[in-house]
Amino acid sequence: MLKAYDVTDRIDKTTIRKQELMAAVILKLEGIRKELELSRDIRQTIIPNLSVEIMAGEFVAITGPSGSGKSTLLYIMGGLDKPTAGKVWLDGEAINEKSEKQMNQIRNEKIGFIYQFHFLLPEFNAVDNVSMPMMINGRRSRKEIRDRAKMLLDLVEMQNKYTNKPSQLSGGQQQRVAIARALANEPKVVLGDEPTGNLDSRSANNVYNLFDRLNRELHQTVIVVTHDEEFANRAGRRINLVDGMIESDVQLRPMAAYTTETQMRDRH
Ligand SMILES: Nc1ncnc2c1ncn2[C@@H]1O[C@H](COP(=O)(O)OP(=O)(O)OP(=O)(O)O)[C@@H](O)[C@H]1O
Ligand SMILES: [Mg+2]
Repeated sequence: MLKAYDVTDRIDKTTIRKQELMAAVILKLEGIRKELELSRDIRQTIIPNLSVEIMAGEFVAITGPSGSGKSTLLYIMGGLDKPTAGKVWLDGEAINEKSEKQMNQIRNEKIGFIYQFHFLLPEFNAVDNVSMPMMINGRRSRKEIRDRAKMLLDLVEMQNKYTNKPSQLSGGQQQRVAIARALANEPKVVLGDEPTGNLDSRSANNVYNLFDRLNRELHQTVIVVTHDEEFANRAGRRINLVDGMIESDVQLRPMAAYTTETQMRDRH
């Protein structure tokens, strides 16, 4: 009797803990408004009033027509742009009130941003590019940084290209280095603005699969702007923007369980 009770009790605790983990809000936007001043008396409203919560471990695709405010929203989420009004919380911290210097540190530690065009440093090889955010951060030794950079390149299946410079890599390979770089400081959120926009469909598919694995296996929170219908429907949640407003917000699948980076690297 007592034994059975103990087991049930343990199961309950595990379930509750899982629910707690899954319920953690990692990014919260409240009453976001974004206006642009086009000239002295012409203002354009890009986002009128948007609120959204993203849970830790979610994989969100943001879709919508060109000019609907997807990039603007993503930049606000990542602290790269400030809203005209409203509040942004990242990992429990209100980031819209931070100074530029504080924001640089928060971005370095908590956000991994992947642009449509990779923005790798052309003079540096793959390992150096991935090392850069860790060098700026200064919390790891040189050896730890290089080892981690190589581990992340292995993770994105670039183990044979450590010393290649961006010009010696294909578009898809460059984008995978950019993803490894985005993961350098174990960010809370990975944000991608059409990261496969300039890739052929096969390379784009590889990059999608990588995001998918990062999310499913590492429980990495991923938010990606995409024009690709198939990819958008493979995400866990799809938010469609029209005129800076959430036209629909659909949960497509439940969240996955954790793996470590090393386990994930060794699996492929
Ligand atoms: N620097 C700027 N100056 C003037 N207008 C801008 C500027 N940046 C964005 N806009 C306007 O804001 C609106 C939203 O732009 P945003 O780049 O967020 O759209 P998007 O959904 O990412 O579009 P796309 O799919 O084409 O990338 C557009 O109408 C655009 O013209
Ligand atoms: Mg855009």
